[in-house]
Amino acid sequence: MQDLTPRREDLDPIEIASRDEIAAVQLARLKWTLRHVYNNVPHYWKKFDAAGVHPDDLNTLADLAKFPFTTKEDLRSNYPFGLFAVPREQIIRIHASSGTTGKPTVVGYTSRDIETWGEVVARSLRASGARPGMTLHNAYGYGLFTGGLGLHYGAERLGLSVVPISGGMTERQVQLIIDFEPDIITVTPSYMLAILDEFRRQGLDPRKTALKVGIFGAEPWTNSMRGEIEQAFDMHAVDIYGLSEVIGPGVANECVETKDGLHIWEDHFYPEIIDPVSGKPLPDGEKGELVFTSLSKEGMPVIRYRTRDLTRLLPGTARSMRRMEKITGRSDDMMIVRGVNVFPTQIEEQILKVRGLAPHYQILLTREHRLDEMEIQVEAATNAAQADTRSASAGELGHLVKSLIGITAKITVTEPGGVERSQGKARRVIDKRPKD
Ligand code: DLL
Repeated sequence: MQDLTPRREDLDPIEIASRDEIAAVQLARLKWTLRHVYNNVPHYWKKFDAAGVHPDDLNTLADLAKFPFTTKEDLRSNYPFGLFAVPREQIIRIHASSGTTGKPTVVGYTSRDIETWGEVVARSLRASGARPGMTLHNAYGYGLFTGGLGLHYGAERLGLSVVPISGGMTERQVQLIIDFEPDIITVTPSYMLAILDEFRRQGLDPRKTALKVGIFGAEPWTNSMRGEIEQAFDMHAVDIYGLSEVIGPGVANECVETKDGLHIWEDHFYPEIIDPVSGKPLPDGEKGELVFTSLSKEGMPVIRYRTRDLTRLLPGTARSMRRMEKITGRSDDMMIVRGVNVFPTQIEEQILKVRGLAPHYQILLTREHRLDEMEIQVEAATNAAQADTRSASAGELGHLVKSLIGITAKITVTEPGGVERSQGKARRVIDKRPKD
């Protein structure tokens, strides 16, 4: 594998600034953000007032712990635009991700936010080994999902030549990787494995492509998967993290020269780790739930947003900014299926729409031929036990899940009483996907 370590003089100075300099930038931006939301977003001033805190109460970074958290539920109850902090006409882009039920979580960006996002993605790409002039094959989905457009703008900003192929059509992915000779591929790790299988199916040697680095994120993956992909393609594999609520991809990224966890771009996103049960902040090094406060966003800033992702914070290495360890799980029941975020409650909502089905269900996740498969096992209602009624209900549910959530699921309708009854908290998801 080629040495892709960026030159120090090409980094943004803040990436290698002293901790004191970083903290000074963070404190100034945090004060600005708190005032901005307090003055412009009713949800925040009401919440701050109810908690008895005011932006003026923040004198040190540690004072942030006095302020209330923001959750997906807050985004939902302010659907669609209630958390925007600028007049609607200043929002030049809207994205959305999964809510816990029907309504998506909406985020809005001003033109400066789009610039900032491009900047942090460009920084992430450079950390991954990208250089101006290289070609990038972008197989993250384009659309409301932040992956496609987020990577796209960052890549253009760094001066790369982008192939905006988006996801799907695996044979064509392989063909363009061979014909266009991209240096970089950006894609979910699970889809990269499907692309690898397609290379093998066609009898092509994946080590012979021009690819030098793959940048994988949007779902959890392991170091053993890194080993497999690096070996198979003879390229580097690095981790990119982000979430729509905070900005999209480019909140944190691994450095290609160290691959030791993801440096958080702390001049734009202030991280905390909390105990997911008590909500108390935990010291660096301890594992808990990751919480972010945006430091420069204008359109839709977030204060102490609970990501539900579990990890820990580690000191900087290749950069001064702190690292987060690879995400190991979540503190809620969100599943990520082929890169699509989905909550059991979203499936439940669809089940309740179908006459002939009872709201007793379990979701089974497996991985076959490298790709996630979802099976929904759901009971027939007691008055709908005939075979033809059941298959009609299954068809209807499959259609709703595909068209409203975007996932192709196998539907199995069982006898009434056929789904395991819970003894307490229902076990809705059985995840049999291999962890490595
Ligand atoms: O997945 C943004 C993204 C796109 C990141 C492309 C990286 C590459 P959402 O759809 O809002 O945004 O989903 C965010 O995905 O809270 C994590 O649970 C999970 N996730 C994202 N990146 C990683 C990663 C995009 N590198 C949710 N490792 C987050 C593990 C990840 N999980």
